[in-house]
Amino acid sequence: MRIADKVCVITGGSSGIGEACAKIFAREGGKIAVVDVDEMNGERVVGDIRQDGAEAMFVKADVADERQSRQCLETVVQSFGRIDVLVNNAGVSAVGDVAQCAPEDWDRVMRVNVRGVYLMSHFVVPIMRDQGQGTIIQMSSTIALVGLQSRAAYAASKGAVLALTRAMAADHSHENIRVAAVLPGTVYTPFVQGYLERSYADDMEQAISNLKKRQLNNELMTPDDVAYAALYLASDEARFALGTALIIDGGVSTAKVF
Ligand SMILES: NC(=O)c1ccc[n+]([C@@H]2O[C@H](COP(=O)([O-])OP(=O)(O)OC[C@H]3O[C@@H](n4cnc5c(N)ncnc54)[C@H](O)[C@@H]3O)[C@@H](O)[C@H]2O)c1
Repeated sequence: MRIADKVCVITGGSSGIGEACAKIFAREGGKIAVVDVDEMNGERVVGDIRQDGAEAMFVKADVADERQSRQCLETVVQSFGRIDVLVNNAGVSAVGDVAQCAPEDWDRVMRVNVRGVYLMSHFVVPIMRDQGQGTIIQMSSTIALVGLQSRAAYAASKGAVLALTRAMAADHSHENIRVAAVLPGTVYTPFVQGYLERSYADDMEQAISNLKKRQLNNELMTPDDVAYAALYLASDEARFALGTALIIDGGVSTAKVF
């Protein structure tokens, strides 16, 4: 029970890393609010959590819409009384270098990945300030640190999230609002599966094997591996993790084997 009774809002909690965070946080005593545009899967995740005996609710919202992001946080406060942890995890991607990336794709990625994180943070900080405490965890990516081919818009968005995390830590740590980021490497989720299917339709097996080879332990990283890192940051064990960028990537960004 590492986060017993903490009210945790998890954006993008209907799938992948967000779903893993929702379920693992619930097992560790958290009360979970899944915020997502995908209602069907969000209700599935909430149903699974309730079946395991924990408290959970689903709130449908587009995190990049000003009214919806404000209202979803108000709904959680009405139901659970407060918000202890916000995980800004909802995200989208686009394939292409800067010349290939269409302006609509650039705007779509920036809208969810940067404006969405900004809006949810903008509206949750006053709530946490009034409570006298809170934790905000941003889902950045190792792409913020190391260039990766054909992901120009996505890389720019995750770099922005990391910079915002550090700025927010500087601004809000003295108010007992802790802000930190998780930087995952490649995790095998529907998000990555879709990307591989679009890029390597003919040879998915080879694509998965290449992915494994990039990791120092030759294994595919799972959503749970990232969720456990987020769990640490959500817990009081992480009270000195201020502006921390926690890299979970199988060693890809730190070591190379030839
Ligand atoms: N999968 C990876 O390899 C990887 C690596 C590094 C970082 N990340 C980041 O982790 C986060 C989760 O990725 P994932 O792989 O679990 O993706 P996913 O596609 O499995 O899940 C993303 C969720 O976000 C929701 N979402 C999208 N736009 C939204 C919006 N405007 N408002 C509310 N919800 C919205 C989707 O409906 C979906 O449920 C993303 O921010 C992603 O950039 C993923």
